[in-house]
Amino acid sequence: MKEESARERADRRTHRGTGPERPGGRPGPDRRALVTGASSGIGAAFVRALRARGERVVLVARREDRLRRLAQFFGGEPGALAISLDLTRPGAGAWLEAELQARGVEVDLLVNNAGVGVTGPFQNQPIGRLLAMVDLNVRALTDLTRRFLPPMIARGGGRIINVVSNAAFQPVPYLGVYAATKAFVLSFTEALATELRRTGVKVQALCPGLTETEFRELAGMDLLAGRKVRGMSPDDVVALSLAALDRGKLRVIPGWSNRVIATAERLVPGAVVRRMAAELFRPRPER
Ligand SMILES: NC(=O)c1ccc[n+]([C@@H]2O[C@H](COP(=O)([O-])OP(=O)(O)OC[C@H]3O[C@@H](n4cnc5c(N)ncnc54)[C@H](OP(=O)(O)O)[C@@H]3O)[C@@H](O)[C@H]2O)c1
Repeated sequence: MKEESARERADRRTHRGTGPERPGGRPGPDRRALVTGASSGIGAAFVRALRARGERVVLVARREDRLRRLAQFFGGEPGALAISLDLTRPGAGAWLEAELQARGVEVDLLVNNAGVGVTGPFQNQPIGRLLAMVDLNVRALTDLTRRFLPPMIARGGGRIINVVSNAAFQPVPYLGVYAATKAFVLSFTEALATELRRTGVKVQALCPGLTETEFRELAGMDLLAGRKVRGMSPDDVVALSLAALDRGKLRVIPGWSNRVIATAERLVPGAVVRRMAAELFRPRPER
């Protein structure tokens, strides 16, 4: 990623993108879904599902080789554009906004999916990883939403999916900062949805439970209460998310068992829920 001067940015804005033809031969706007964290897991599943629905996509994540392979698999441009970017780098959001403007791309669906987790006793969690997690899960999501929302409101339509987690529903010992980042995203998303009533912009807070992706191993969550527990498939999570988006549903909890747990948690005293969550995530010596 390289930072651009204001001048370079202004020059690039005069560049015209090539969208689908409108009747009369003029190119229409190149409206796309922007999926962050598209190189694996739930993000890659969003790309698959959106391409199957005929939507053009922009894939964003750090691992360039993976992104390019995925974009190529979906036929490359004009359907799938790969942009390698570390969203925690200062200026990343501004750079991405300028890059898409220069290419004539309008973001019609923003999927704020990129996210990482860190588990273990808080005092042992590496400070750099903790702050990078807050930067990605909270700051980058807020930044991208603030940048790509105003044009949606101006057009009278658009869609935003913020990927939350069922960890947002209660404090989670040994996963405290991650759960707090997701509580931020849930609160922000639901507040925003209410602000955006009657603007034509649909907003969704997607709250998956355990999902079979690289996330669990990277976050140190492969074992729960010392056992391997199987999660949902990312494709199932995404199919339920997109079906609910079409219906305009705000909070989406994929999977009936996740919905039962979320409901039960509201009926049990908070201290009990926190102790149960601590038992799930408490590090155990390897057996
Ligand atoms: N898996 C679960 O059990 C679960 C449950 C609930 C919620 N979630 C949420 O689901 C979302 C997707 O996670 P996942 O399960 O699909 O995990 P994943 O397979 O590890 O995907 C995470 C994605 O984020 C990207 N990413 C990480 N750091 C980044 C950075 N600094 N800049 C740009 N992209 C970055 C990764 O790509 P690069 O490494 O190439 O950058 C990857 O594409 C996350 O927000 C997570 O919190 C997951």
